[in-house]
Amino acid sequence: MNRTNSTHILSDRRQFLYRAGLASLFWNVPGAFAEELFPTPAQQEGPFYPDKLPLDTDNDLLVINETITPAVGTVTWLSGRILDSRGGPVRNALVEIWQCDANGAYLHSKTNNRDRRDGNFQGFGRFLTGSTGEYLFRTIKPVPYPGRTPHIHFAVKIKGRDKFTTQCYVEGEPLNEKDGLLRRVQDPRARKAIIVPFTPMAGSRIGEMAARFNVVLGLTPEA
Ligand SMILES: [Fe+2]
Repeated sequence: MNRTNSTHILSDRRQFLYRAGLASLFWNVPGAFAEELFPTPAQQEGPFYPDKLPLDTDNDLLVINETITPAVGTVTWLSGRILDSRGGPVRNALVEIWQCDANGAYLHSKTNNRDRRDGNFQGFGRFLTGSTGEYLFRTIKPVPYPGRTPHIHFAVKIKGRDKFTTQCYVEGEPLNEKDGLLRRVQDPRARKAIIVPFTPMAGSRIGEMAARFNVVLGLTPEA
């Protein structure tokens, strides 16, 4: 790796951490989401949870370990909180996401478009929540693939509980109305819980987007 590239990656990582800090400061406001406390509907895990995990499973899906070339796609900061049924933060929740790359290929041996897979996209990432229940990923804006509207798969794993799986959708995507899985969710409040805005980030020179996706679990708060 030459000096310029390594400096670039370091500053990129620093900026990532800086923003992670900002996001948790800004969102750690008690009661900020009281109006959104509708239990997140569960959705099926689907067939493409990685059958072999990537070498890197951190929360930056754009860069695998210290490689230089980032993944192709619209850079998206995806964040949110894992909450119990009363809106309290859930700590030590392992949040996992997985999605297809910009060419519609998953990190799975049976994926479509395997020959066009973007080898720089991590495809899967993990984040362990702290006391605020907050998580953060840097990934790409999801794209459609045959039969599905754009979505990001989520699994939330908490010790001693069944795994919770759902999918996060993009508000305003025309294909949402045709997606068989999403159409099964009919209650407008349940739909609002899983279809969220992806908005351009002010001041981003590379067209980054941001999305907030809170997961409200049917957990009773611990005493
Ligand atoms: Fe999928």
